[in-house]
Amino acid sequence: MDQAARESIRLDSDFFQNAPELSRVLRTEQPVRQVVMPRGMSAWLVTRYADAKTLLADQRLSKDSERARALFQRRLTTPGETSRPFERSLAAHMLNMDPPDHTRLRKLVNKAFTAPTVARLRPRIEEITENLLDDMAGSTEVDLLSAFAFPLPITVICELLGVPDDAREDFRTWSSTLLDTATPEQIEFASGKMARYLGELIARKRAEPTDDLLSALVHATDEGDALSEQELVSMAFLLLVAGHETTVNLIGNGVLALLREPGQLAALRADPALLPGAVEEFLRLESPIHMATLRFTTEPVRVGQAEIPAEEFVLISLLAANRDDERYPDPDRLDVTRQAGGHLAFGHGIHFCVGAPLARLEARIAIGRLLERFPELRLAAEPETLRWRDSSLIHGLQTLPVRLG
Ligand code: HEM
Repeated sequence: MDQAARESIRLDSDFFQNAPELSRVLRTEQPVRQVVMPRGMSAWLVTRYADAKTLLADQRLSKDSERARALFQRRLTTPGETSRPFERSLAAHMLNMDPPDHTRLRKLVNKAFTAPTVARLRPRIEEITENLLDDMAGSTEVDLLSAFAFPLPITVICELLGVPDDAREDFRTWSSTLLDTATPEQIEFASGKMARYLGELIARKRAEPTDDLLSALVHATDEGDALSEQELVSMAFLLLVAGHETTVNLIGNGVLALLREPGQLAALRADPALLPGAVEEFLRLESPIHMATLRFTTEPVRVGQAEIPAEEFVLISLLAANRDDERYPDPDRLDVTRQAGGHLAFGHGIHFCVGAPLARLEARIAIGRLLERFPELRLAAEPETLRWRDSSLIHGLQTLPVRLG
């Protein structure tokens, strides 16, 4: 890395297109350092596994969105800019809260996502998977994300919550606007549409409850004042977005990793019992969440040789941490037989992903069935031409063209 680049690192398209390589340089040379975020604000980026794990569980780092917003306002470098507008209408969710509010909200949904509860969804997930594979079978070449990796998790999470299927394409558009680099106007438009849609849906569930998670949450609100109306809308938003924006990329990134490494693909085809471990390896190697959501220090925090002052934003790179050679030997290599457990792809500490059992189940079914169904599956583009999404949150491809036969 040359001197100029070392002085100012911007999380821009260049960074996202070359994230593993740039992360490796940072982890070796400056494992805790300031970077410039896409909208011009500075934050501290943490790239080592041990530091990442410690900080994810450190209560001196807060996620309280009200305090974060105030901090944002004071720190904005672009005149006239305000904090991301969607944070007002949809932000009252647990990923933006510290205890005790976080604890209260998380308790309401924990039970719906335990491994045994989620296991009951297996037949339905298999059925959706088969239908999508049947639809694909008529084509020779498809974008695997649009045809398969996206519709599967969005259908599952919408059915679980009780969201009608006619809204799914809109949701895809709105949520990618909110997660990728977008203008404040685009964000305001998408978040307004989403908040309005969810508010109306919740009103319908209140009038006519159905057998789904959203009706159960409406009921909890009405019974015990467990959630405010804004918390209810925000919870629905969080579950919908977190429930599909991530799993789509676990499937997409996992398939890409396999198609780039024919030896590993052959090993997995020869022994399907390797699949659960292989899914952990995909999570480790191509972590679908690039950086954990923004935290800020409430007091000075020492991390190795560096001290992060109070009231600074902190970004923890899960992708970089999961490729730390102090934790995993030969970390940039896909190895479907590796013991990849302990990776940080689902986070760590109190915000550890509530949907991890669901994501794992979906990915095992999806990738397992895809490989069985299409023994000739291969990439339909040179790997170097594939583009990643420009997002500090999502590490996922824009498209994944594949040949089926
Ligand atoms: C939290 C990753 C799938 C719901 C998180 C966090 C990560 C993560 C890294 C913590 C973020 C942080 O600490 O800043 C993933 C990955 C997935 C996945 C990689 C798929 C491969 C899902 C699914 C759901 C879900 C299917 C469905 C409901 C949530 C929720 C939280 C969360 C609600 C917030 C938990 C809290 O604040 O206590 N996820 N997730 N995720 N995830 Fe997932």
